[in-house]
Amino acid sequence: MDKVILDYHENIVPYDRDELVHKLSQALKTKRFEHVQRVEQMAIKLARLNGVDEELASIAGLVHDYAKQRPDEDFINTIKQYQLDPDLLNYGNAIWHGYVGWILIKNELGINNIDVLEAVKYHTIGAPYMSKLAQVIYMADYIETGRDFPGVEEARQITFDNLANGVAYQTFNTLNYLINKHAAVYPKTIDTFNAWVPNAAIYRKD
Ligand SMILES: [Fe+2]
Ligand SMILES: [Fe+2]
Repeated sequence: MDKVILDYHENIVPYDRDELVHKLSQALKTKRFEHVQRVEQMAIKLARLNGVDEELASIAGLVHDYAKQRPDEDFINTIKQYQLDPDLLNYGNAIWHGYVGWILIKNELGINNIDVLEAVKYHTIGAPYMSKLAQVIYMADYIETGRDFPGVEEARQITFDNLANGVAYQTFNTLNYLINKHAAVYPKTIDTFNAWVPNAAIYRKD
């Protein structure tokens, strides 16, 4: 996959792409920084396939894990300060870095585009209704070229073929994984499952 470097011209971020990449290099350790750059590339590819704005895909791909390496206190304080669902306090970074992290991105990176912020918000637990951009980021994170879990090739093929089927595939597999680990499931994850999986073309029995 050839690397695509976009010139930003939509005034979504108050600086250029180089500056955004630099800010991420400061916020993240090397491995995570490399991951977000691969997610950006996959997001651009999926955006092209699905008629989604590539600049938004690039920005959201780069920033989606901006908050991933922040201490728990930052999320706990944000949940309290913004009076988010108190049940979130029973979960952890895996959910917080997206579902709460978007607020840190808004405040610290000066990004106010609602589609970008929602795409970041939903990349950890999905949502019953997701914009195409949110679906693109949700899937780009799952199938970026560095991922090598069993079934990733199948996940890529399904997603390239049909974005919504990809969302269903990931949503089913993530819930299945949590249940098999006997892990707690944040209730909104079930809402995502119910909206995407039973009616997905890839799982329909008739
Ligand atoms: Fe993430
Ligand atoms: Fe990620």
